[in-house]
Amino acid sequence: MTARKTPETLRSARWFAPDDLRGFGHRSRMMQMGYAPKDWVGRPVIAILNTWSDINPCHAHFKQRVDDVKRGVLQAGGFPVELPGISLAEQYVKPTTMLYRNMLAMDVEELLRSHPVDGVVLMGGCDKTTPALLLGATSAGLPAIYLPAGPMLRGNWKGRILGSGSDAWKYWDERRAGTITDADWLNMEAGIARSHGTCMTMGTASTMTAIAEAIGMTLPGASSIPAPDANHVRMSAECGRRIVEMVWEDLTPGRIQTREAFLNGIAVAMAMGCSTNAIIHLIAQARRAGQEIGLDDFEAASRKVPVIANVRPSGDTYLMEDFFYAGGLPALMTRIRDHLHLDAMTVSGRTLGENIAGAEVYNDDVIRGVDNPIYAEGALAVLKGNLAPDGCVIKPSACDPRYLKHTGPALVFDDYPSMKAAIDDENLDVTADHILILRNAGPQGGPGMPEWGMLPIPRKLVKQGVRDMLRLSDARMSGTSYGACILHVSPESYIGGPLALVKTGDMISVNVAERTISLDVPDEELERRRAAWVRPEPRFERGYGWMFTRHIKQAHEGCDFDFLETSFGAPTGEPAIY
Ligand code: FES
Repeated sequence: MTARKTPETLRSARWFAPDDLRGFGHRSRMMQMGYAPKDWVGRPVIAILNTWSDINPCHAHFKQRVDDVKRGVLQAGGFPVELPGISLAEQYVKPTTMLYRNMLAMDVEELLRSHPVDGVVLMGGCDKTTPALLLGATSAGLPAIYLPAGPMLRGNWKGRILGSGSDAWKYWDERRAGTITDADWLNMEAGIARSHGTCMTMGTASTMTAIAEAIGMTLPGASSIPAPDANHVRMSAECGRRIVEMVWEDLTPGRIQTREAFLNGIAVAMAMGCSTNAIIHLIAQARRAGQEIGLDDFEAASRKVPVIANVRPSGDTYLMEDFFYAGGLPALMTRIRDHLHLDAMTVSGRTLGENIAGAEVYNDDVIRGVDNPIYAEGALAVLKGNLAPDGCVIKPSACDPRYLKHTGPALVFDDYPSMKAAIDDENLDVTADHILILRNAGPQGGPGMPEWGMLPIPRKLVKQGVRDMLRLSDARMSGTSYGACILHVSPESYIGGPLALVKTGDMISVNVAERTISLDVPDEELERRRAAWVRPEPRFERGYGWMFTRHIKQAHEGCDFDFLETSFGAPTGEPAIY
């Protein structure tokens, strides 16, 4: 049983209580901002880590929501302070937000460590912001509660429902094939994103916020509330109220993020038909929490937990708005309760089992029963073989079943620009049986492992009606993507992984049921190629990129910086106040 905090034992009291010169400075500067001692004395100081920016459409409403969080903090007797964090807008940050996930995580950790705060509300949602905020808060070790931005409303075009990303890819292929007009394309552009909030397909954003809830880092139901819904305003205020009590309870991430909590996250990810990105982020987060979670845990869950969320792209009809109306994540968790550790603690101060007690499914087609799933096995499969000794990943629930067992010749592209230049060439020597390969797109090679893994279908095949084919890379792909894309090949080609040795025309065999992938080239020939392989030029000579390439870990290890993992040593302690 952890002792309740008292006003004297609050962390912030180290700054504000001492009758010395430093204490004088801290208090006088608070008064400079118009606060009086009754604003802070004896009250938990709550950081609100806001990842709003003028160029992040997924977080546009955070400019207002932060006031709702503050309202809750004040109601509960806390003192709110807004701390802006880096805003990683998935659509705009190049070459990829993944290059900066760890930067935001460091930003969060050091902001919390260096300021006089007792707890934090983390405001995020757009893809990498969820794992980044949670990674940083986990290492900082203060009581923390996560407020997801919430998905945007359904897209609409000519009365048809459009899903973020998924329908953009789909109709882009139609445009390349010449089957839709320029005017239709422009109207789609205006209709696919109709409100603020995160992508409303089961992309990385909805995957990661659902996992955050399953791990116990959000209040019950928080992850599925649409961003414009009044419920989201009320949830924001509730996070503010609850974090104050969490500070008194000293309910830190370390008391919530147990191995069982992460296993709950994995089970929910599978049932949701999750983004492949979930693997990388969850492994990194677990390692920050000092828990051993690896590809084998995903593989084990994949064999047991069916996909029951009928949400695109694994599902064929519904979006996150429908999922919310069907009961949201608590309802889904009741359906897979046999796969969950229900006694895991959550930020609500109650167990996961207590949180979902009484939750109901209101639409059995959106949230299916385990005996009527949309895919009988889990969303992801981990393949291993001589081409990926440390594993690679496919999302079988979102690809044409005929590619789940396939042998075909490789068509290799050494980088994204050369692939882009060739893919629309009508004379490209390619058939639907080929396996398209993109390399030098991994954590170091990309750099930052961009979401390039859903390689475009060659235009000549699109015109023939081909809409899926096997693609293989050390890149990631967007959670809104779909198709027979094998991703995260580890170790990556840029550092000399076997993918670097493949030549166009080599035969490659994939068997998802057996979880295997093999390059059908004799070992002696591979040795000859390895001896002739030349390591590519370094991507960066200076700055953050220089540090990134020296310290980033591989995909199967979560792509954290080696020096941030707990295995490197305990996080830096409390700052001295001189
Ligand atoms: Fe922000 Fe998709 S672009 S969640």
